[in-house]
Amino acid sequence: KKVVLAYSGGLDTSVIAKWLEDTYECEVVTFTADLGQGEEVEPARAKAEALGIKEIYIEDLREEFVRDFVFPMFRANTVYEGEYLLGTSIARPLISKRLIEIANETGADAISHGATGKGNDQVRFELGAYALKPGVQVIAPWREWDLNSREKLLAYCDEHDIQVEKKKGKSPYSMDANLLHISYEGGVLEDPWAEAEEEMWRWSVSPENAPDEALYLELTYKNGDIVAIDGQEMTPATVLTYLNKVGGENGVGRLDIVENRYVGMKSRGCYETPGGTIMLKAHRAIESITLDREVAHLKDELMPKYAKLIYNGYWWSPEREMLQKMIDESQECVNGVVRLKLYKGNVSVVGRQSDDSLFDENIATFEDDEGAYDQADAEGFIKLNALRLRIAANKGRNLG
Ligand code: ARG
Ligand code: SIN
Repeated sequence: KKVVLAYSGGLDTSVIAKWLEDTYECEVVTFTADLGQGEEVEPARAKAEALGIKEIYIEDLREEFVRDFVFPMFRANTVYEGEYLLGTSIARPLISKRLIEIANETGADAISHGATGKGNDQVRFELGAYALKPGVQVIAPWREWDLNSREKLLAYCDEHDIQVEKKKGKSPYSMDANLLHISYEGGVLEDPWAEAEEEMWRWSVSPENAPDEALYLELTYKNGDIVAIDGQEMTPATVLTYLNKVGGENGVGRLDIVENRYVGMKSRGCYETPGGTIMLKAHRAIESITLDREVAHLKDELMPKYAKLIYNGYWWSPEREMLQKMIDESQECVNGVVRLKLYKGNVSVVGRQSDDSLFDENIATFEDDEGAYDQADAEGFIKLNALRLRIAANKGRNLG
């Protein structure tokens, strides 16, 4: 028996590796990905070797993550429950995909992960795994074992001779990070009234401490994706890395919310999504001049549905792929440049231009439009729209 484990190199997944071997008498293959979490992934190799792992996969997936997951999601202006930019949610389908591909390459029939039985991540990992390999076995140790505290995990390490760095100053939060965001849950945040302390935030300065001078940025779009910043062409991962840096320096992208998890509970989370916050604002701006009104409004109606699919773990589903085709098709004309200003936590759009712009100055002007728009047409337009209102009023249906 062989199991592919999503392995971070940390305490939890190191215990899982050993526990899987003991409990299932299986061989464990580890998979560690660089998704831009900001920590080296190479050290995971030595840690896996120390656990006696023979097949170790360590991969840099940053470009694939942004190009094939983050950018497609941002084409839809995706936001969950009005606030959350889905930083963790969008990384899970890529991890599922690689777990299954590695299972196929190594002849493994099972996968395993370190998500708890209370959260969204287990659902996302497993829905993806089943969608891509229907017969796969999933092992979720957190749902099976009784090692439900840090003390018990450390005791397990002692018993089984697992070397872990007992990091001093370990963060009191459950965190997850990738190029799109860093998240914090648990600890003092479990009281929704308690304000997060300033030291928690790792990626951004507070708006109060941000520079007194605004930073201007020009983002160039092609088919709904950013391809250059300030005229310089960049790859998807480079774009997001750069926007995280300048966003973070200007206090952009902090969020503190209570959200509804798929399993039914409410959960309080804090997020830093500096680059994503900039991208959302800018993408809406380039669409504002390039998209037809009804196309834009239809996208906005479908967006919450699409966001929920991603939050709940249905990236690998026919309905997500169907929506994606529509969204992608709408982006053909979403080309041009957006000019932005970052200042003390704010992202303001100050300009937008496009060769595909539908904005017609001749028509929109408050000055003489030289016959481009006949104002007399508006009279009939309004009268016919009022027809049913007038009929009802004539029949005695009083409003107000
Ligand atoms: N609540 C967020 C979500 O469901 C973040 C989850 C963070 N995951 C973690 N393993 N710390 O997308
Ligand atoms: C976890 O439970 O593993 C993290 C939180 C979540 O998945 O929602």
